[in-house]
Amino acid sequence: MKKVLLVGNGAREHVIAETLKRSGARIYTFGKARNPGLLGLSEEYETGSLKDFDALRSFTRSVDPDFAVIGPDDPIADGAADMLLEMDIKSVAPLKTVARLESSKSFTRDLLEKHGIKGNPLFKVFYEEAGMKEFLNELGDFFVVKADGLMGGKGVKVAGDHLSGHSEAIAYAKECLAAGGRVVIEEKLVGQEFSLMSFCDGKNTIEMPAVQDHKRAYDGDKGPNTGGMGSYSDADHLLPFLNENDIAEASVLTQEVAAALLEETGSMFKGIMYGGFIATANGIRLIEYNARFGDPEAMNVLPILKTNFVEICEAIINGDLDKLPVEFENRATVCKYIVPEGYPENSAAGERIEIGRVPEGVKMYYASVDASDEGIRLSNSRAVAFVGIGETVTEAEKIAASACDSVRGPVFYRKDIGTSDLIDQRIAMMKSIRG
Ligand code: AMP
Ligand code: GLY
Repeated sequence: MKKVLLVGNGAREHVIAETLKRSGARIYTFGKARNPGLLGLSEEYETGSLKDFDALRSFTRSVDPDFAVIGPDDPIADGAADMLLEMDIKSVAPLKTVARLESSKSFTRDLLEKHGIKGNPLFKVFYEEAGMKEFLNELGDFFVVKADGLMGGKGVKVAGDHLSGHSEAIAYAKECLAAGGRVVIEEKLVGQEFSLMSFCDGKNTIEMPAVQDHKRAYDGDKGPNTGGMGSYSDADHLLPFLNENDIAEASVLTQEVAAALLEETGSMFKGIMYGGFIATANGIRLIEYNARFGDPEAMNVLPILKTNFVEICEAIINGDLDKLPVEFENRATVCKYIVPEGYPENSAAGERIEIGRVPEGVKMYYASVDASDEGIRLSNSRAVAFVGIGETVTEAEKIAASACDSVRGPVFYRKDIGTSDLIDQRIAMMKSIRG
């Protein structure tokens, strides 16, 4: 039995642990809180700050794992895989230099441009205010300003949503410059966003089913941006508003980026390349890459993974993914997050919740809750994810929603994720822009 060190303690790590365990691994978790689901799956569980590499090192030494899987972006960007490699432990997570794919927006935009990879919007990286006004004039009403670093999705401000004109854009860009010395200004793309995650061994990439996440807090895509309120995937592994060519285009882009990363850094990306793409009137464009599994997207794809996940992890590490046929079940999934009332701004942290009888066929994954003798307490972030799996998205949605209704306490969830009303709107929008 392989021993796997798992870093992280959210719902994403809960589903990673479940999938590894079902593939025959023993799990040793290092996380910052006691996730009740992970506790049940782990042989040992150490709590500590994910920034505390000394603590992570000594836990790793005591466990002596066969390999590590690192879930969240922060420890990856901080070089956790580098630190583990120094101890001769290989990770399903990239080294710091290639993790810039997620941690630096300008690095990724420049990489595509330098290697002639199609997929960037019009963009410019600024190191000073000079030239911003002229470039914004070129973009007109369609602009986005991006801080250059890991900001938990909060560093991006979009015209119309967060910025009402060029002077607000420049003011925010100057804030980003003061904080990070660099800022990206780019064209605002119009279309439907989707997530396409790929396993990558440094040379070969294998894509997972496409998923659509929902970032806004409230029904109808209203309210503030969140870490993601829920997501769905379809039985054919496409999305209802995409065709096979769209997925092929995104998938080729990921392959080209993996090759460009190796050429640029001399280091192979070993882990999950998670592309945030947008289908536009002119084809597929890249919004951003992440260097890890998506949360909630991991909960859509891992429960329907047919191939042994331990073998996939080993193939990523050994560089022979091309020899492993990777398969997913042809089932639809809908994931809905239960979040504290007031989330994301004024979450009802510390309150207790009770989870009733979860209907059969529903998967439940704990996120930012803390287990104690008195029960489960909310934190200020997402609490529990329910995943319905069915023949169709509609069937999967009904299953997930019935599970959400079983939770008692000061919480809410998005009722519209995965419903045909919302999906039909997306299909209509795509049709209208594609003509
Ligand atoms: P990111 O952190 O780069 O994923 O950006 C967060 C969100 O901002 C994305 O999910 C998009 O909804 C939006 N966004 C980022 N870049 C663009 C763009 N060039 N055009 C339109 N929307 C964007
Ligand atoms: N699905 C959003 C994220 O994982 O960043």
